Amino acid sequence: MTLDRQKVALIGDGAVGSSYAYAMMQQGLAEEFVIVDVVKERTEGDALDLEDAQVFTSPKHVFSGDYSDCADADLAVITAGAPQKPGETRLDLVNKNLKIMQAIIDPLVASGFKGIILVAANPVDILTYAAQKFSGFPKNRVFGSGTSLDSSRLQVGLAKKLNVNPQSINAYIMGEHGDSEFAAYASATVGGESLIERAKRAGLSMDDLHQIEDDTRHKAYEIINRKGATFYGVATALMRISKAILRDENTVLPVGAPMDGQYGLNDVYIGTPAIINGSGVAEVIEVPLSDEEKELMRKSAETLQKTTADGMA
Ligand code: LAC
Repeated sequence: MTLDRQKVALIGDGAVGSSYAYAMMQQGLAEEFVIVDVVKERTEGDALDLEDAQVFTSPKHVFSGDYSDCADADLAVITAGAPQKPGETRLDLVNKNLKIMQAIIDPLVASGFKGIILVAANPVDILTYAAQKFSGFPKNRVFGSGTSLDSSRLQVGLAKKLNVNPQSINAYIMGEHGDSEFAAYASATVGGESLIERAKRAGLSMDDLHQIEDDTRHKAYEIINRKGATFYGVATALMRISKAILRDENTVLPVGAPMDGQYGLNDVYIGTPAIINGSGVAEVIEVPLSDEEKELMRKSAETLQKTTADGMA
C-alpha cells in the first residue's frame, strides 16, 4: 500500500454501503473509490451524487465499476447481503448471505485483488470466517466490523448514566456481533479507574450495568423495528476501521478478529480489541476477563462455530 494514492472498493451499495461511502467522502479518506453492486443504476447514481460532494471535502475519483476495477484497491469493504428484517436474528441470515459472500469473493480474488478485506454483512463473524476461507488470504488481511458498533453503543449507554464523554469510556462488547455478545466490564475503565467503581459511586448496581449491556445487545432490533434498518452507526464504525488501515495507525479497535489460541479459541472470528494498521489485524489483544466473562466468550464462540459448521456444510 502506498500512502500517497489509496483506493477503496465498496462491494454492496445498499443503505450501509452508501452511508459508508458518504462517511469516507466526509473524512477525505482514499483518493479513489469504486462502488460495485449488482444494481448498476444504484451504483451509477450514488457515484454521480457522491462526486458532487468532493468540492466541499477533497478531490476523489468515485465511480461505479465491477470486480475488474478492484485489482489495484488497497481495501475492499463488503456490505452486500440480505439485511435483518423485524424479528429476524443475524444468524437467521447465514445461508443466503454465505451464498452471496461466495459470489463476491470468487470474482474479487480472480480480479487480482491483493488488499485487505473488511466484512460488515451479517452474520458478520461467520461471513468474515467464510471470506477468509473462500479467499485463502492470510487471516490478518481478512477481518470484520465485529463488535465495534456494539462497543460504541455500550459506551453511549454508559455515558448517559455516568455523565462522561462516551469517547472517554474504555469498555468493550465482546464475542459474537449478535445475541450472545457480552460487556467485558471487569476490565472497563474511565480515566484509568475501574468503571464498576465509578458506576458504584454514581449509584449504579451490577444489575444496572447488565441492563445497559442488555439494551446494547437489543439496540439494533429497536432501530430496525422503528426505521426498518440500521446503517449510520455501522457505516461510521466501518469508516473508522478503514481510517486505521489506510492511515496505518496501529490503533486499538474492537473488531471481528481471527482467534489463534487467544481466550483458548481457534478457528473462529469473534469480537475483541485488536491493533489495526496497514497490514490489517496486526495483533489481537487478549483482554483480561473475569471467569464469568471467559465462559460467555467460550459460549459465544461455540454458537458461532456451530452455526458456521451448519451453514458451510
Ligand atoms: C447492527 C447491524 C449492523 O447491529 O448488525 O446495527
